[in-house]
Amino acid sequence: MCGIVGCVLKEGKVAPILFDSISKLEYRGYDSIGIACADEDKINLKKDSGKIAEVDAKLDLCDLEGKYGIAHVRWATHGDPSKINSHPHLNGDGTIAVVHNGIIENYLSIKEELEGEGYQFVSDTDTEVIPHLIDKYMKTGLDLTQSVRKVIGVIEGAYALAAISSAEPNRIVATRKDSPLIVGIGDSEFFVASDYPAILKYTNNIAFLEKGEIVILDEDGVKFLDENDQEMTKEIEVIEWSPEMAEKGGYDHFMIKEINEQSTAIKNTLNEKDKVKEIVDEVKGTINRVVFVACGTSYHASLTGKYLIESLVGIPTEVLLASEFKYSAKALNDKTLVIFISQSGETADTLKALDVANETSKTLAIVNVRGSSATRRADYVIQTQAGPEIGVAATKTYVSQLVAIYLFSALLGEDHELLKRLEKVPDYIEEVLQKRDEIKEISKKYKRDKDAFFIGRGFSYPIALEGALKLKEISYIHAEGYAAGELKHGPIALIDRNIPVVVVIPPGQDHKKIMSNLQEVKARGADVLGIGAVGDEDLISESDDTFLINCDVDDIIAPLVYIVPLQLLSYHVSVIRELDPDKPKNLAKCVTVE
Ligand code: F6R
Repeated sequence: MCGIVGCVLKEGKVAPILFDSISKLEYRGYDSIGIACADEDKINLKKDSGKIAEVDAKLDLCDLEGKYGIAHVRWATHGDPSKINSHPHLNGDGTIAVVHNGIIENYLSIKEELEGEGYQFVSDTDTEVIPHLIDKYMKTGLDLTQSVRKVIGVIEGAYALAAISSAEPNRIVATRKDSPLIVGIGDSEFFVASDYPAILKYTNNIAFLEKGEIVILDEDGVKFLDENDQEMTKEIEVIEWSPEMAEKGGYDHFMIKEINEQSTAIKNTLNEKDKVKEIVDEVKGTINRVVFVACGTSYHASLTGKYLIESLVGIPTEVLLASEFKYSAKALNDKTLVIFISQSGETADTLKALDVANETSKTLAIVNVRGSSATRRADYVIQTQAGPEIGVAATKTYVSQLVAIYLFSALLGEDHELLKRLEKVPDYIEEVLQKRDEIKEISKKYKRDKDAFFIGRGFSYPIALEGALKLKEISYIHAEGYAAGELKHGPIALIDRNIPVVVVIPPGQDHKKIMSNLQEVKARGADVLGIGAVGDEDLISESDDTFLINCDVDDIIAPLVYIVPLQLLSYHVSVIRELDPDKPKNLAKCVTVE
């Protein structure tokens, strides 16, 4: 949800580096791109709406002079995706430039005040108040850093921002509150960025900025100021991710690369077992209720967590959407464990809920991005080991979240049998991937569909929900996931021969019941795709198409494996419909606004 980068070089031209770095953040927003670089006395700016490649073909974004600068990719919040609303934003005489990720909630009143003082605005964005405010403070004799400090005192909302001024060459001043910003410290290049992929090619040395802190980058390195403007030292962490992990590596899209990386992501996350055990040992016996909180795909992982904890441990467990969490917060107490599931660790809805839960309860965050805000705010953290996920649709991070939840539940319930079975999951996934062409063939049927249903029961219900979300978000086919038993209470009215129904039916106690639900939709003419076990003759005879999975994968571990053909289905349908599965319209990877 908008990405920003700032870079100061000791030597050389910064525009190609900024272009390369901001291109790695395109998954955060693809409404527009802009770069501002400065040489000794002038800020050079190029920006426009459109995807990076389109704008670059038009403007040649690397052709900008200067050895320091800032760059931005936008996911529009205030103002349509247009050139004028693209970042960086400038002050009136073009001597100050700012990039921003977040929302300035009180920008209208600030704008009114500035307009009263003679400032003229050219865009509809909230961000434009920042360069004008900096301009106003610098005119009173403050330097860029002091002016940014004053700005923090005035603006309300969420922000990660970086500013340059031609009056202070070779310097970037940056700060954050509730939007992510990391600092990268190379040998001869110094960065701020919204996320790791932007800087992995140049450095693995990272520092994290906390709310109210300011970082100043110049040719000599990096200086941190605390909330009281006292210089402070920061721990520098070395991130083990490699630049190749954030590249397509020969695949057509990040999404298919990431689908193919799932067995490795699972193996690596299973290696976290000892750390998960330490957390389980601490919370065991101290909790009588579990609440999962998450959004989107992470919410679907949480639903599986409810079934697992209730069946393996017997502790009452609820699942709440992060954006709805505060309405239930009164019922929390110190015997409640609130588990936050988030790939990015930066989702605004989830972070707000985490702050609320921290007031009363123990909190555990299951997060993929190391050092992200959720990891710094929760009492306990389980780090999933999926590596960077660039495709906007979550795939390998979803199965890694599930593995973390399975480890936690099985350890809490002392289910050693399940723990052993988890070790086989990577092989089951590889078996599914071997048969990927079968799904590609089936996906051709969906090319012109407008609607699709996904149904499942118990453990396969969240799989149906997640399968439907994947299809709708990257192929724009209207898709709904339903609890199979619920269809007859209303939605079955929509079923006819134009509607494909994907039935998720692993072997297990509900097999017969799901078969009955399959027959109900079949009787109304639906085209049925059955996702079930090898040798399931009933399913094969009743379905129009089937995709069959190793019969050792029963309903308990099905969520980890049965989702893979559904991810492949949505990927291939998106490609057949000539869409870009990595960059679905209106979406962004990291949703930092509420
Ligand atoms: C869908 C998807 C989203 C995210 C949701 C939460 O494929 O990726 O639904 O799951 O925006 O994001 P995180 O997990 O980063 O909190």
